[in-house]
Amino acid sequence: MKPLQSLTLIFGIILKGFNNKVPKTEKSLGELSSYQTKDGTFSLKSSRFKEAFHSQAGALYESKNKFIFPSHIERFNPNKELFVLDVCVGLGYNLGSLLKESMTRSININWWGLELDKRPLVLALRQKNFTNIWSPLINQILKRIESQSEWVSKSSKGKILWGDARATVSLIPKTIKFDLIYLDAFSPMQCPELWSIEFLTALTRKIKPGGRLITYSRSAAVRRSLRIAGMELKSLLPIKGELKGWSSGTVAILPECNKNNIKNSPKWASLSQMEEEHLLTRASIPFRDPNGNKNSQEILSDRIKEQSCSSLESTSSWQRRWWPCQ
Ligand SMILES: C[S@@+](CC[C@H](N)C(=O)[O-])C[C@H]1O[C@@H](n2cnc3c(N)ncnc32)[C@H](O)[C@@H]1O
Repeated sequence: MKPLQSLTLIFGIILKGFNNKVPKTEKSLGELSSYQTKDGTFSLKSSRFKEAFHSQAGALYESKNKFIFPSHIERFNPNKELFVLDVCVGLGYNLGSLLKESMTRSININWWGLELDKRPLVLALRQKNFTNIWSPLINQILKRIESQSEWVSKSSKGKILWGDARATVSLIPKTIKFDLIYLDAFSPMQCPELWSIEFLTALTRKIKPGGRLITYSRSAAVRRSLRIAGMELKSLLPIKGELKGWSSGTVAILPECNKNNIKNSPKWASLSQMEEEHLLTRASIPFRDPNGNKNSQEILSDRIKEQSCSSLESTSSWQRRWWPCQ
């Protein structure tokens, strides 16, 4: 979950004039308030999703540790294009960090982004403590995305599809398969539509063999849905400031034919016994949205009904087994 504790740092600017420039649609983020995270970078909170965009530890810190480092970009051949799908672009931290890393390593990027609301990027680009962290070229690219929805440079190109990702994902040409997919939606309980088994399966169909879907989520429902879709699961190891013994997120890898040896990494481990057993509880019942048009309340209430009829172990009894003292 995107920790709400971060809101202790909110200095609470409600972005009023800002809404005049970028109209708020019914399906947008609602009102946005800004706050500064511990690494000094700027982030937002959405009133519609009742959640912060980043954890208290830092927007830039999170993007590097949860998305860029587990991508292991160094394993890619500089002569080939690296295809990346960035689901929930928001302020563009994951894009900025990816560009920085790929430029350092002379890797060419072909980027696709999906995002509902343009305002986070518009607002970020007005903040000095956002633009100051990027090189002039990266700032130019972010501005192009804001104004033209695409860019082409010597070593990279990209295109953003504005709208509900459940619909826009199908606009990506079928021939394009991704090496990396970053899934950075709000938490499953606030935005279940982007964690449904159907949407996750659609994303996994766009991954190349050996490619990775990387997310901060360690939800049992998300992990089980990804496993049902044929992905091999790895648990991101906790980063500084996170609880030891638990997980920092999930890397789901599409196994390559005739290769069943997914390499280990210092960034992740196989799921622990505790995490495996989590996937056998009612918490692992997927979010369901068969036609990609349910609202979050419908998805959540249908899931509660399914959980109440389930013969799976209750999640609280799993918790008592693993944390008897709590
Ligand atoms: C946690 S923030 C993403 C942060 C972002 N990765 C960054 O680096 O700043 C979640 C984003 O999901 C977007 N979002 C919410 N529902 C969506 C939907 N149905 N389709 C596409 N984007 C959506 C929100 O507008 C918000 O920008």
